[in-house]
Amino acid sequence: QIRSLERQFDERIARDEKIEPKDWMPEKYRKTHIRQMSQHAHSEIVGMLPEGNWITRAPSLRRKVALLAKVQDEAGHGLYLYSATETLGISRDEMYEQLHTGKAKYSSIFNYPTVTWADMGAVGWLVDGAAIINQVPLCNTSYGPYARAMIRVCKEESFHQRQGFEIMMKLANGSPEQKELAQDALNRWWWPSLMMLGPTDAESVHTEQSMKWKLKRKSNDDLRQQFIDQTVPQAELIGLTIPDPDLKWNEERGSYDFGDINWDEFWQVVKGHGPCNKERMKARIGAWEEGEWIRDAAMAHAEKKQERKQK
Ligand code: ACO
Repeated sequence: QIRSLERQFDERIARDEKIEPKDWMPEKYRKTHIRQMSQHAHSEIVGMLPEGNWITRAPSLRRKVALLAKVQDEAGHGLYLYSATETLGISRDEMYEQLHTGKAKYSSIFNYPTVTWADMGAVGWLVDGAAIINQVPLCNTSYGPYARAMIRVCKEESFHQRQGFEIMMKLANGSPEQKELAQDALNRWWWPSLMMLGPTDAESVHTEQSMKWKLKRKSNDDLRQQFIDQTVPQAELIGLTIPDPDLKWNEERGSYDFGDINWDEFWQVVKGHGPCNKERMKARIGAWEEGEWIRDAAMAHAEKKQERKQK
């Protein structure tokens, strides 16, 4: 019986059919999706913190409005993704619990500090740029609710990337001090942005199976190469230098060769020892605990309303 269900499931994947919440699916497929989708949701929510840091200090009203809208979008993406993950039979409370106890990961990139205004430019340009490259293929992923959520998320990410690039462009064309700020931000965010796309294909434990299920459509290394090839000309356009002396156009491959990535740093950050891991978790757990009274109040109100209805 299970064999035949599995065969039918594989055939549906081969035909590029979407798998929907009530359809039969292998337990591993369900678990893998809960892992990736909930970590994606956590990344959006934790990802609000580094930029939230600059909302009150944005240099103009226009910049403040754009940054506020962007951070609000990220909250929306997180909630969207939590809802999509719930369709696989895990509750939101369980997901929060996994984040707060360190059982579930979130993206390494959000454990770096945002020390100057130029970091708002670099985060939008590089981090959201890398996110788009990673997420556009996910619009075609095999699990229906995830694929559909990604369509709107990608549209909004595209606005985020452009607002970041515009900040960088303005700074790079400004005074020498402003240009220096932009270059310094690029120097600090370049390598972590490459790491964000995940370990090399040789080290990536999930890629093979996730590609078979069409959860992943492209490997980590392919996405990384695509990000580099897309971003280097953008840096050139605004007169900034990518901090990689080994970066060189490879005519034969039609791609850039690039230097070694510090994977020790990546794993340190993933294991909780990055510059801001503790701070980020403290902020999330604090928000959860401080919000308890309002959750309780909302529940009490809902119960009273229900009682009144029954009378
Ligand atoms: N930060 C933290 N952990 C990571 C990262 C990263 N940048 N990249 C990989 N890992 C973890 C994986 O989660 C996995 O650990 P786990 O088994 O405990 O889950 C381990 O390292 C091995 O990696 P892979 O086998 O390559 O894992 P996977 O196939 O899931 O690929 C990837 C990683 C590319 C991040 C994938 O999960 C993905 O595409 N996720 C959806 C997009 C996403 O989450 N983006 C977050 C940032 S974008 C944003 O929020 C703006």
